[in-house]
Amino acid sequence: MIRIAPSLLSADFSDIAGQIRLVEDAGAGMLHLDSMDGRFVPNITWGPKIVGDLRKLTTLPFDCHLMIAEPERYVDEFRKAGADYITFHYEATPHAHRLLQYLRSIGAKAGVGINPGTPVAMLDDLIEDIDLLLIMSVNPGFGGQKFIERSIHKLGEARALIDARNPNCELEVDGGIGAANIERAVSAGATILVAGSSVYNASDPQAALRDMVARASAAEAAR
Ligand code: DX5
Ligand code: ZN
Repeated sequence: MIRIAPSLLSADFSDIAGQIRLVEDAGAGMLHLDSMDGRFVPNITWGPKIVGDLRKLTTLPFDCHLMIAEPERYVDEFRKAGADYITFHYEATPHAHRLLQYLRSIGAKAGVGINPGTPVAMLDDLIEDIDLLLIMSVNPGFGGQKFIERSIHKLGEARALIDARNPNCELEVDGGIGAANIERAVSAGATILVAGSSVYNASDPQAALRDMVARASAAEAAR
C-alpha cells in the first residue's frame, strides 16, 4: 500500500496540532519528522522531546528521519518518545549494520537513508536488515528544494534490490515530491512518498494532499 508522509518541516509550528489534524483528515499515511543537528546537515530542528509531545496529538505512525551525526547516540530516546520508523543516514555512522540490528532489537522499524551522492550499491550488504530504505531526492537539510531527476533511476535500482532480497522493505523517497513527479516515483517503485512544501505551502494543503494521494493510488494500480 502506498502512503504519503507529510513532512512537518514546512508546517506552521505556532499551530502544530491544527497542522497535524489537517493532514490526518486528508489522507496522510504517516507523519514525517525531520530531526537535524546542524552538523550532519546545515540546519537545526528538533529532538526527542518534541517528538514525544507530538505523539499525544495523533495516532498516525511517526516516521522519524534523523539527519544527525552519530545517530546511535540518540535512537533510544527517539524510540521512547514514540518513533515507529527510525531512519538514520548511511553517511552518518561507521556502523550502519550494527545500528539497523539495534533498531529492530528496541522494537523500531529500521530505516537507512542515502544522500544523492551515495549509490544504492552501498546498501548491498545491509538490505536484509532494513525495514525502510530512503532515497534522498534532494541534499538533506531544507524543505522546498528541487527534485533531483537521477533519483528516479535510483528508486528503480532500490526496487530491484528489495524485490530480489527483502520484498517487505518499504521504499521511501524524500525531497521535492509533488504533483509533477509523484506518479513517476510510484511507478519506479516507491511505497512511501514524503511531501513537505508541496502540502504545507499549498494554498489549500488538504486539496494538495488529496490530489497526491489520488495520483499515487492511480500509479500504484497501474504498476
Ligand atoms: C529535507 C527533509 C525533507 C523535507 C522535504 O532534508 O528530509 O523531509 O521536509 O521537503 P520538501 O518536500 O519540501 O522537499
Ligand atoms: Zn525528511
